[in-house]
Amino acid sequence: MTPFRIALPKGRLFEPTIALFAAQGLGMRGEPGRRLLLPSENPQIEFLVVKPGDVPTYVESGAADIGVTGTDVLRETGADVLEPLRLGFGYCRLAVASHPETAYPHLDGGFTARVATKYPRLTRQHFASVGRAVEVVPISGSVEVAPLLGLAHWIVDLVDTGRTLRENGLVERETILACEATMVANRASQKLRLDTYLDIVSRLSRRSRLSP
Ligand code: PRP
Repeated sequence: MTPFRIALPKGRLFEPTIALFAAQGLGMRGEPGRRLLLPSENPQIEFLVVKPGDVPTYVESGAADIGVTGTDVLRETGADVLEPLRLGFGYCRLAVASHPETAYPHLDGGFTARVATKYPRLTRQHFASVGRAVEVVPISGSVEVAPLLGLAHWIVDLVDTGRTLRENGLVERETILACEATMVANRASQKLRLDTYLDIVSRLSRRSRLSP
């Protein structure tokens, strides 16, 4: 039988995620380096290490059975996956920010604001839900510099400590979404490999909360 595969996110959620699995007897064997598939302490379970935004896609497609990702990328991809557990770390927020002198929530003169973001779907959804027309400028990184260079009036990005905003002369205007590390699961795999799924959920739930 193919190993039960757990997709883990690179980046800021990686260390707390492998620490969580290790504390429940599912340590990773070896260092990721350039290797993307790694064994765990249990020969029936292996880890797949990918970009955080790709975790929902791997899990939705069944290429991974379960995964860990942030609420931000989960909602941005809109993946159809189960969300059994909130993991209690990786807290941050998706927020609108701008230069303090840039008007908000409407630009002067009735102009349409340009909003730079790595989260075009959530940004469109948010501004549509509050009835404010904006032009979304999708970019893949260094979003905080966009207002400085005149690419956008406002940005939508993750805020954790607020340091990146401060160091780029930006202020938070509005929170769009509270985010946290979340366990996701493939719908079919949850049924077909129920024993392994329940074993992992019960181990991790000692340190987590059931999703509402
Ligand atoms: C995120 C986010 C901000 C920063 C916010 O980027 O895009 O740039 O963290 O954190 P702070 O409020 O503590 O400064 P990340 O470092 O995850 O890397 P990325 O830009 O590659 O997504």
